[in-house]
Amino acid sequence: MITNLSSTQLVGHTGGVDFDALISKLDLATKIRLLTGADMWSLTPVPEIGLHRLVMSDGPIGVRGEQWSSADPSMALPSPTALAATWDPGLVRRVGRLLAQEARRKGVHVLLAPTINLHRSPLGGRHFECFSEDPYLTGELGAAYVEGVQEGGVATTPKHFVANDFETDRFTVDVKVSGKVLREAYLRPFERVVRAGAWGIMTAYNSVNGTTMTEHSELVNGVLKQEWGFDGLVVSDWTAVRSTEPAALGGTDVAMPGPFGPWGEKLEAAVREGRVPESVIDDKVRRVLRLAHRTGALGEDGADGADGASRTYAEIDGIALAREVAARSFTLLKNEGNLLPLTGVSSVALIGSAAREARIMGGGSAQVFPDRIVSPLEGLRQREAEVRYAVGADPRLRLAPISTPTRALFLDAEGEALAEHELPATEARWVGQAPADVDLDRLAAVELRATYTPSASGEHLFAAAGVGRYTLTVGDDVLYDDTTVLEGDDPAAVLLHPPEKRFTVTLAEGEPVTVSLRQHEVSAFNGMTLIMFALGHADPSPGEDELIAEAVRVAAGSDVAVVVASTTLEVESEGFDRKDLKLPGRQDELISAVARANPRTVVVVNAGSPVEMPWLEEVAAVLLVWFPGQEAGPALADVLYGDAEPGGRLPTTWPVRLEDCPVVDVTPVDGAVPYDEGVFIGYRGWQRQQTAPAFWFGHGLGYTEWSYDALEASQGAVTVSVTNTGTRRGREVVQVYLSAPERGRWLAGFDVVECGPGESAVTTVFLPERAFQEWAGDGWRTVTGDYTVEAGRSVADIRLSANITI
Ligand code: BGC
Repeated sequence: MITNLSSTQLVGHTGGVDFDALISKLDLATKIRLLTGADMWSLTPVPEIGLHRLVMSDGPIGVRGEQWSSADPSMALPSPTALAATWDPGLVRRVGRLLAQEARRKGVHVLLAPTINLHRSPLGGRHFECFSEDPYLTGELGAAYVEGVQEGGVATTPKHFVANDFETDRFTVDVKVSGKVLREAYLRPFERVVRAGAWGIMTAYNSVNGTTMTEHSELVNGVLKQEWGFDGLVVSDWTAVRSTEPAALGGTDVAMPGPFGPWGEKLEAAVREGRVPESVIDDKVRRVLRLAHRTGALGEDGADGADGASRTYAEIDGIALAREVAARSFTLLKNEGNLLPLTGVSSVALIGSAAREARIMGGGSAQVFPDRIVSPLEGLRQREAEVRYAVGADPRLRLAPISTPTRALFLDAEGEALAEHELPATEARWVGQAPADVDLDRLAAVELRATYTPSASGEHLFAAAGVGRYTLTVGDDVLYDDTTVLEGDDPAAVLLHPPEKRFTVTLAEGEPVTVSLRQHEVSAFNGMTLIMFALGHADPSPGEDELIAEAVRVAAGSDVAVVVASTTLEVESEGFDRKDLKLPGRQDELISAVARANPRTVVVVNAGSPVEMPWLEEVAAVLLVWFPGQEAGPALADVLYGDAEPGGRLPTTWPVRLEDCPVVDVTPVDGAVPYDEGVFIGYRGWQRQQTAPAFWFGHGLGYTEWSYDALEASQGAVTVSVTNTGTRRGREVVQVYLSAPERGRWLAGFDVVECGPGESAVTTVFLPERAFQEWAGDGWRTVTGDYTVEAGRSVADIRLSANITI
C-alpha cells in the first residue's frame, strides 16, 4: 500500500524546464552520442547540463537491473497472462507501483515494459509475456501497469510497436495488415497506453506492410507522435535499428544498445551533409531530456537521481503482493463435485517435476532472478496434511543448475582470482555488465565452484551448458575440457538455450563432492560482457516407466492427488515460436494414469499460455496457475486449501486442439505473414466457426456462485446487479459485451465486484465510445443502429441483455 504520496512524488517532476535552452548548450556530436546507448542498458550522462546516466532495464514481471544475474536479484511476479487473468486494473496498478519501487532500488529509470502485443496465435513464443487476445482488455491493463510504474517516478516503454505477435524470423518478417485491422486491434492497446500518459514506447523488430518498424515514419511519426500527441521517447528494440537515415527520419529516437551501431558518426555526417535536419536530432534529444526530467535523471544538483532518495514512499511488501496477485490470477477451469477447496484431507500425493521446481516465468529477456522461489512442494508442506511427493515425469530437456551456494571466481590469465561472488545456484550470467569489481582487461576465465551432496546413490548426470571453451570437473575427474560451438542461425536464441554436454558419474548418498565449471576466454559481444553458462545436474533415475508407476502408487494411497504439469524453457520463450500445444514429455500419460488411480485428481497447469488437455474429462479439477512468480508455493496452498479464492478469468480462449484455433500458423511465407483474418482473432474468430474451444474467453469458476439479477443499459453506461448466491465470500468479474448483427460479440467493459454470501453488488460499467466505432480509413466512425448490451460470466455465458439503439 502506498501512503502519504504527494502529487510530485506520484507523477514525477512537473516543474518547467527549458529543454531548448539545454539543447542549445550541446554540440552536434554530444547530441548524437545521446541517441545511441552508452552500453547495453544506459544512455551517456552529460554532466554539463545536469543529465545523469539514464538506465533502462527489462520487465515485465520484475526489474532485472543491469547485470542480468542472480548476483543482483529482483522480485519475480506472475506472468502478464496471469496479471490479465485478474481482470483487475487496480491490482495491476499496485503491481506497477511495486515495480517502480524495485526499479528505484536498482537505479533504473526506464522499465522496458509492458508487452502489449496480442495473443493472435497460441504458438506465439512470447504469448505468456502479453496480456490477452482482446485489444480492449490489453489496453486497460496496459494502462494500469503504465500508471502504476510511472506513479513511482519510473518510465515505461510499452512494446513492441507494433504487430510483433510471434517470434519466427522476427528481425526480418513483414506483417501484412490493413490499416483498419491495425487500428481496431493491434494499435488499440498502444493508443490506450499513450493516452494514459506512457513516457516511452519501444519499436519492434518486424516490418509492417514493407517497412521495418524502426523506420516506419507513417506509424511512428504520423500516428504515434502526431495524431496521438505522444511526447515521450521512442526507443528501438535491442539492435532493431539497422540504418542511419531511414531510422533517424522514421521516428525512432534512441537506438539501443550501444556504443556501436548505425548512428553515431554516420548520423553526424548525415546531419552535416543535410540529409537529416538538425531539428530532427533536437526533437529526439528533447524527448530524452523530457524522459530524464520525468524520472529524476535531470537536475543540476545531482540530488535527484534514481537512487530512491527523493521519491520514497512507504515500502510495498513485495512478497505479500506477489502471493496475492498469484492467487488472484489462478483460474479454476473445472471443479467437479466441488473437490476444491480441499477439506478434511489428511494426505496429498503431490506429483510432477514442476511441483518441486516450479516454472515461475517464461524465457528470454523477460527473465529475472529472484532471491527466493517457493515451490508448490514447499508451499504445501507448510500445511497440515501429509505431502507425499513423486516426480512422475520430468519433461525438461536440459539439466537444471544445482540450487546450492556457489562461488563465481573471476580469474586472470595466471588463474589468480580478481573477484569472487556468491550465487544461489550453479549458473553464471552477466549480460552487458560484469560485476563492478572485475577488471575486464585482466579477466581471462570465470569459474563456478560448489559442493554437492548427493541425496541418492547411483548414476548422477552432470552437464556443461554454454558456448565456448569449458572445463567441467566433478570430484577429481575432469569430465569435459573442450570447445562447444554455436550452432543455428539465431545467435540470441542459441545463447539463451546453449548446447549441453552431459556426463554420468557414480556417487554415493551423503558423500559430498566438489563440482566446478570453468569458462575460458570469456567473450564480449560488441564490447559487452557476455557470461552465460551453467553446470547442470540430475539425480539417478529409475527410468521413465518406473517414475510413472511410482506416482500412481503414491496417488492411489492418498486422499487426493495434485499433479503439477508444466511447459519448459524450450517451449515458452522469446526467440522462437511453439511447435505445438502439447504438454512436453510424458505428462499427459502421467495425468491419465494418476486419474485412473485416484478419482480425486487435481491438475495444476503451470504454463504461461494454452496447452492441450486430452485428459480433461478424466480428472476432477483443473486449476490454471500460469507462470505464478516467486511465491508460487504459498499462493497454491492458499487456493487449494481455500484461504484464497482462485480469482482468475481467462484472458484468452483455451482450445481443445491447436488446429481448432482461428489462427494457428506463425511461419512466414516468402518473408511475410498476412493477418488475413482481420480483427477475428481469439474469441472473435472462435465465434465464427463450428468447433467450440475447451474454455471460452472470460471463463473461470471461483469458489462461490453468482446470480445476475438486473441490467440497465444506455449508450454510455451499463448498470449490472449481481448476487453472491454461494456460501463463501468471493469476487466476480462482471463482463459486459456488445453484439450486433453480422459483427459478433466483443468486450466493451468489465468490473470486479466482491460480496459476502447472500450479498448483492451493483456496478456501473462505462462503455467507451470506441466500443461502438470502426476505423473508416481517415478517422473513427460511430456505427449507428441496434446493439445488444450483454453481461455475463464469459463471452459464451451471457446472463442478461438489453437492446439499445445508437
Ligand atoms: C526484446 C525486448 C527487450 C530487449 C532488451 C529484445 O530482444 O525483444 O523485449 O526489452 O531485448 O532485453
